[in-house]
Amino acid sequence: MKRLVIVANRVPDPKDRGATAGGLAVALQDAVTRRDAMWFGWSGKTAEATATEPALVRQGRLTYATLDLGDSDYRRYYQGFSNGSLWPTLHYRLGLAHFDRGEYAGYREVNAAFAKALAPLLREGDAIWAHDFHLFPLGAELRRQGCRQRLGFFLHVPFPPHAVFSGLPRAGEMLADLAAYDVIGLQTEDDAANLRAALAAEGQEEAAGRVSAFPIGIDADAFTKLAERAVEKQEMARFRRSLAGRALVIGVDRLDYSKGLPQRFVGYDQLLARYAGHRSRVTYLQVTPISRGDVAQYQALRRELDELVGRINGDYAEPDWVPLRYMTRAVPRPTLAGFMRHAKAGLVTPLRDGMNLVAKEYVAAQDPEDPGALVLSRFAGAAPYLEGALLVNPLDPDEIAEALDQAMAMPLDERLARWRPMAEVVREGSARNWCRAFLAALEG
Ligand code: G6P
Repeated sequence: MKRLVIVANRVPDPKDRGATAGGLAVALQDAVTRRDAMWFGWSGKTAEATATEPALVRQGRLTYATLDLGDSDYRRYYQGFSNGSLWPTLHYRLGLAHFDRGEYAGYREVNAAFAKALAPLLREGDAIWAHDFHLFPLGAELRRQGCRQRLGFFLHVPFPPHAVFSGLPRAGEMLADLAAYDVIGLQTEDDAANLRAALAAEGQEEAAGRVSAFPIGIDADAFTKLAERAVEKQEMARFRRSLAGRALVIGVDRLDYSKGLPQRFVGYDQLLARYAGHRSRVTYLQVTPISRGDVAQYQALRRELDELVGRINGDYAEPDWVPLRYMTRAVPRPTLAGFMRHAKAGLVTPLRDGMNLVAKEYVAAQDPEDPGALVLSRFAGAAPYLEGALLVNPLDPDEIAEALDQAMAMPLDERLARWRPMAEVVREGSARNWCRAFLAALEG
């Protein structure tokens, strides 16, 4: 089998697999254990200047190759154009996007630097798979370096209609760059249709023909096992005691404005205001690790959430009851799996999301004899696949409150009828199948 070269801005820490591995590392696990592979990208560290030679770490058949980013490149490529321009635009939030030519130049320079450092490591016959919005121009830069191998690109986040995307200065150049890839994957049919239309509008009809949807999944059986094991642990027993018999609602998201957290908190506030019977009978645990904490909009969101949590708890708390438990520390995956299994409702209400694997994890974590209910944003990529969820418009806190009330009161037979087909879909649409489908397209 040919070697697989994965290129992504984030590279997992070789010492730190398993408990803290992110969605992409889990999703690619099958591929990287069955064949020789290289994972290339940013080391996560900054230095005075961007490195030209990658640091290599070998672990079995997998080699990690990483570059430190220069301080100025980190600011322009990562904080600036990737997170300040592209991320909001791709999430339909042009109003939050800013554009700066210097940052855009930095983004292109880092893509060129990645290509230049990667090219000498490539072997004939490698399949190269680039991931996510940080790397739109990487394929074109690799071609400039003489690379003739098959090149795939997968966008993990949504792709908006062309009328939105073209609001981003240099959108045409970004789309033209995508034409260098042989296979272009997105999460949903809607995203794929949007990208095809945008490419066609820029005269890239041929590239539009190389765009397909490959919905990403999780390793459901492994997550179910994690959840089953977690609930046996002492730590979970202590957590359950702390709930004192109250129903648990769980939310797990990076601290990001795409996740709809303020609206979700107001939705919970509305639940307590409008349905007083839930007061003192429900506890909502929101785990929200801080993300991109040096980007201004993320700092502002954090302040907004701090204030909302304080107000909601101030308004409704009892001496022995805190309505909303809010954590900004990262929690290990096994513990999260245990929280999810114990929760009567999973609350997943992003304003836009490529797929949202938390929704799938919540489904996989449930006890098949007594599953909880999933409240899910209709704007998550997962929504069309999870028909048993209670779908909400995440901008409408009243709708969130109503769905939560419905979830809390849902009888067992309805929970089972909603959960069973979702569990089936989550198991079948596994990470492994996602990976194999994309690689089959890439390798013909
Ligand atoms: C999203 C993106 C990923 C990114 C992750 C964490 O899931 O699609 O590409 O790695 O967020 O964000 P960060 O900026 O910390 O890498």
